Amino acid sequence: MKILVVGSGGREHALVWKICQSSLVDKVYAAPGNAGISKLAQCIPVSVTEIDKLKEFALNEKIDLTVVGPELPLVQGIVDEFLASGLKIFGPSRLASELEGSKAFAKNLLKQHGIPTPSFKVVHSFEEAKTYLTKLSPPFVIKADGLASGKGVVICQRKDMAEDTLAKIFKDKIFGSAGEKVVIEEFLDGKEVSVLALTDGKTIAVLEPAQDYKRLMDNNQGPNTGGMGSYSPVPFVSSRLMDNIVKDILVPTIHAMNSIERPYRGVLYAGLMVAGNKVKVLEFNVRFGDPETQPLMMRLKSDLVALMLAVVEQKLDRIEEIEWHNESAVCVVIASQGYPANPKIGDVIEIGKRMGKDVQIFHSGTAFSCPSPLRSGNPSPFRHPPLRPAPVRVLGGIASRYNRDGTAQNGGEKLVTAGGRVLGVTALGKDRTSAREKVYSAIKQMSFNGAYYRTDIAK
Ligand code: AMP
Ligand code: GLY
Repeated sequence: MKILVVGSGGREHALVWKICQSSLVDKVYAAPGNAGISKLAQCIPVSVTEIDKLKEFALNEKIDLTVVGPELPLVQGIVDEFLASGLKIFGPSRLASELEGSKAFAKNLLKQHGIPTPSFKVVHSFEEAKTYLTKLSPPFVIKADGLASGKGVVICQRKDMAEDTLAKIFKDKIFGSAGEKVVIEEFLDGKEVSVLALTDGKTIAVLEPAQDYKRLMDNNQGPNTGGMGSYSPVPFVSSRLMDNIVKDILVPTIHAMNSIERPYRGVLYAGLMVAGNKVKVLEFNVRFGDPETQPLMMRLKSDLVALMLAVVEQKLDRIEEIEWHNESAVCVVIASQGYPANPKIGDVIEIGKRMGKDVQIFHSGTAFSCPSPLRSGNPSPFRHPPLRPAPVRVLGGIASRYNRDGTAQNGGEKLVTAGGRVLGVTALGKDRTSAREKVYSAIKQMSFNGAYYRTDIAK
């Protein structure tokens, strides 16, 4: 089979890595991919939102299955477009993707179907929001309705801060049209867990739970990020708790989507808050989590492609069970200086050669820079640190091994940072402590200017 993976993050690198292990697979492409992915797959320079170009590529290359990593193309309807052209694609339709694309849609669905979630109100103007705030006590949880690259949730400790945030959303339009509606939600205390399930709309196959570290700094301080680390399994999630999550949340959500004729097919990610034996839904994502996917793929024993095909062909009931390695997996994200507000890019990355066999380095924002003017005479795109990743060339499928000093073995190009989150160092260990030790000792062999990571992941 020929597989196309859409995306360029650590999640997609982990998916490509696992897909390459499938006996069903002959060739893997990624659009646009990153430097790490280009070691395993042929990268094509098409962005995730160029749906027509992606479809044309899939038709021309006779791609047997397309796997969509990020939410944006899903919300834009990539699945509907591919299906209309007779192409197989893993992910929910545009209408089903509203579960992530509109928080108001998701919250109303949960409420209507009695699925546990914090109490809330959807507001449409600054004045309406301000009036509603007077009925609440802090902390105030304010969520932009639409997609906001993980920055759309603000938790405010004081009313004046909440009003300020609402003014920025409604008046200054910091989230653009994603902030035309806002969900104001009850604050919950507890432990968070991400539970992902594969579903074809009729059958659910639940994956092992994972935990994500959203805050930038140790001890969960600092701003929210896309995720600074993760691990799986999660000891506080007992099998009884998992049963309740399936029974009270996942199954009713799939039924609810069927009942409104938006059947959900793909992977459903529930971001949950657990307090005692009570679980409530904080959010749904309509795709694999990043960085939860990195430890999950290292622990998954079953053939991912067979599972995805079963979803796409609506034959998930024929899968007996999903097999997992019993070991723990831990992922620590190394980010660029200035992440998440203003990540600096273009710094040369050095990666040591001696990673243990249980360690994988999943790339996120990485690329190969063109040779520097000192060595080749070509103008360097990185003479002045660029603000955007635009000047970076994505290589297509050629051998891209790189040396200790970051130079690629295929012609002097250097591995450089090209985004906020750069590497997700992930290891399997007999338990969480051992996986964590392997990750942190591997990290000592990596460096780039301003590299930043949390030291308390999975502690
Ligand atoms: P979301 O994108 O909705 O998952 O929100 C991002 C993060 O904000 C979550 O992972 C939580 O850490 C936090 N959060 C969201 N909603 C709530 C809530 N109702 N109470 C407490 N924390 C929340
Ligand atoms: N790790 C959070 C997310 O993927 O949205």
